Amino acid sequence: MAYFHLSFLALFVLPIFFILFLKLIVRPHPIKIPIKSRHVLITGGSSGIGLALARQAAAEGARVTILARDLNKLEEAKNSIQLSTGVEVDIVSADVCDFEAVKEAVKSVGPIDVLVCNQGVFVAQEIVNQEMKDIRSMINVNFIGTVNLVKAALPGMKNRSDRKPVSIAFMSSQAGQVGIYGYAVYSATKFGLRGLAEALQQEVIADNIYVSLIFPPETDTQSLAKAKRMMPRLTSIMAATSSTMQADEVAKKALNGIKSGSFFVFCNLEGFFLSIVTAGFSPQRSYLMAFVEVIFSGVARIAALWVQRTWYGSIEKSHAQYK
Ligand SMILES: NC(=O)c1ccc[n+]([C@@H]2O[C@H](COP(=O)([O-])OP(=O)(O)OC[C@H]3O[C@@H](n4cnc5c(N)ncnc54)[C@H](OP(=O)(O)O)[C@@H]3O)[C@@H](O)[C@H]2O)c1
Repeated sequence: MAYFHLSFLALFVLPIFFILFLKLIVRPHPIKIPIKSRHVLITGGSSGIGLALARQAAAEGARVTILARDLNKLEEAKNSIQLSTGVEVDIVSADVCDFEAVKEAVKSVGPIDVLVCNQGVFVAQEIVNQEMKDIRSMINVNFIGTVNLVKAALPGMKNRSDRKPVSIAFMSSQAGQVGIYGYAVYSATKFGLRGLAEALQQEVIADNIYVSLIFPPETDTQSLAKAKRMMPRLTSIMAATSSTMQADEVAKKALNGIKSGSFFVFCNLEGFFLSIVTAGFSPQRSYLMAFVEVIFSGVARIAALWVQRTWYGSIEKSHAQYK
């Protein structure tokens, strides 16, 4: 009988108390960010994940603007969204690397409720072989471009007349949670977004602005197909640890994550595991997710060490073959 009582306590009562304790301490508080009839600006919205996001947001009743450089591609994207959803989206052309152009574009589209900084470029190659123009392009488009967008949009988002919750989302990558062979610079730009997001969330929480960081795995887009043409074999081996997704699937997860105000937005099972193992000092709005992080972080660390063992095994094997 005493054994039964102890087991009951350990299995049910203690976890419930622990969850209630987490509910008390978890910050920032849970939030919902409606997108219906609200203005969503999606950068890199003319193709791939950005286009899929724009289509879904438009289908859910948001007023969508897509931003990219190439006007022809933007027109094509606009027509394809209209064809599939019957909804018209706005387009604006700007290079995110040019702060003045970004400021002008942001001014021209009007007040923003949800800013999705999705634009990005990636070249998978060992850094020793990588050209400086590719390195600069990744840093400028992925990181500086995102800083430019935040700098340009933030004053308007802070001074909005309605005080409803609004969102700023960054499109990171699973390569922004763990370094992957061949993605040294790309990973650095996406890891950089995490630091930006964590600090920014603290700076804007008083303005009812919520930051999300989205971590897609390899996603079937034109950029991935292009990157695969020169991708080192070891990059393919390591990237295959996580399943490849379709742009529509990633867009759905991303939009749900933004609407639920999640700080970390993972897209598949491997992403869930990575979010637990890399939770660290990140903000967490869900006390249930905080519970999972606390309980499973040790096991997840062991699994991470195992994955690293297999990756380093592949590297050793590849070097031995090369020699
Ligand atoms: N595909 C994947 O496997 C994968 C995995 C994880 C994360 N991600 C991330 O997801 C995001 C979207 O990737 P994707 O594969 O969907 O790419 P994509 O199909 O190549 O789309 C990239 C978009 O960004 C725009 N863009 C590029 N440079 C720009 C610039 N300087 N200024 C403004 N817009 C610019 C492009 O339009 P213009 O060229 O006309 O400007 C295009 O609309 C990126 O941040 C990427 O790092 C992708």
